[in-house]
Amino acid sequence: MNEQLEDILHQVSKSPLIDNGELEKAYRLVISSLHKGLNIQRAGVWFVKGDYSEINCQLLIDTYHQTEIEVLTISALDYPQYLLALKGERAILANDAHTNNATSEFSEGYLTPLEISSMLDVPIRHKGEMIGIICCEHIGNKRQWSEDEATFVSSLADLIGRAINAQALKQSEQKLNDINDKLEKTIKERTAQLVESEKMAALGNLVAGIAHEVNTPLGISITASSAITDSIKKLEKAMKDGRLSEGLFKSFLQESYKLLFMLEHNLGRAADLIHHFKQTAVDHSDQNIHIFDVEKSLRSLVLSLKTEMTKYGVNVKLDVVEKLTIYSYPSAWSQIFSNLILNSCNHAFENNNNPEINIKVSTTQDNIIAEYIDNGCGIPEENIGQIMLPFFTTKRGQGGTGLGMSIVYNLITEQLKGTIKIKSELGKGINILIECPLTTLPQ
Ligand SMILES: Nc1ncnc2c1ncn2[C@@H]1O[C@H](COP(=O)(O)OP(=O)(O)OP(=O)(O)O)[C@@H](O)[C@H]1O
Ligand SMILES: [Mg+2]
Repeated sequence: MNEQLEDILHQVSKSPLIDNGELEKAYRLVISSLHKGLNIQRAGVWFVKGDYSEINCQLLIDTYHQTEIEVLTISALDYPQYLLALKGERAILANDAHTNNATSEFSEGYLTPLEISSMLDVPIRHKGEMIGIICCEHIGNKRQWSEDEATFVSSLADLIGRAINAQALKQSEQKLNDINDKLEKTIKERTAQLVESEKMAALGNLVAGIAHEVNTPLGISITASSAITDSIKKLEKAMKDGRLSEGLFKSFLQESYKLLFMLEHNLGRAADLIHHFKQTAVDHSDQNIHIFDVEKSLRSLVLSLKTEMTKYGVNVKLDVVEKLTIYSYPSAWSQIFSNLILNSCNHAFENNNNPEINIKVSTTQDNIIAEYIDNGCGIPEENIGQIMLPFFTTKRGQGGTGLGMSIVYNLITEQLKGTIKIKSELGKGINILIECPLTTLPQ
């Protein structure tokens, strides 16, 4: 092939317009290359309908008549010879288009009015099938198409096939992306629904828990107060009937004191429960953040819990990095450790001859790490996942409300923005790891 045609082919072949899936631009590039390479003024890309009944113009550029055609359909049945030649799938080199077997059908209605003398038509193939034609039309005197020119047009037809492949690939990529986006959206929606329904379930449990816990002392209080009313009525009647003796009055007083004590005790229990429950929601108004000495504050906490600990003879060992001061919420840390220590006292050391609690505190560059270990009875596997849920307790009716660990969890995750991990095995004590980011002092 001559050098100029080879050069043009090379340029088209490496142009991104062929492979980026924008067919219209690829057609324009091919047509302008045909104009230039063959020195013609009319060239177009046509596609054949699947049943060979129609040939549709995709783009035809005529620089002689200065027209661009994007929509034109010719009925293939009106041009049987041309159609037959096309089906042969070889290039049609019509030096004299008016007399050539394949193209003479166009002479009167098409070639003469447009002053076309020679045609060079080459099939476009896609996946081995002939799907269209590149049409080169020469205006003016007849010309001899060379083999080089036919090869040049064939190569451009192959490049159109490549462009069609690229577009199909781009379309399937787009489809895949659309499906992915849809899938991601569905997953997001489903996750949100799940979180929402879990939230609602947790709220339901919480409300049921509060109702259950508060109901018992309130029920007892109502019974006690109506019993008091009954005994007052009895006293009143005895007085009216003139039967009020000293003995009767004394027994009335005794009964009333007993009932009032019961009433007071149970109302107090209900009030305690509500107070305790309010603590589960971390009190963000307690934003008392300042620098404090970790070991000192832990020592004073342990001292304040001495009464509880001496009951079981608990030994607390503190292992805190020397002179560790942090900028954080001291009351949150105290609440966390007091709940953990009280839990060990209340749940872990029933039959233990050497009850021990170890608290280790250290820091990394970004975090404070606290490890809480007791050598108590441990927690059965099936309970570990539950102990931080509000109202989970194994001491119901024996002073446990099941709010301690949920307060600990909320303080660590919400106020201190940290994490808590609990490891435990029945008979092997508990190991709690707390990790919280170190807060830097505001400038
Ligand atoms: N150190 C521990 N050893 C063994 N079991 C524990 C320990 N700490 C917690 N538990 C178990 O976890 C449960 C939940 O603890 P949590 O502090 O939330 O509630 P509670 O202590 O029962 O009641 P509350 O703290 O509200 O008075 C306890 O009932 C207990 O079964
Ligand atoms: Mg507790």
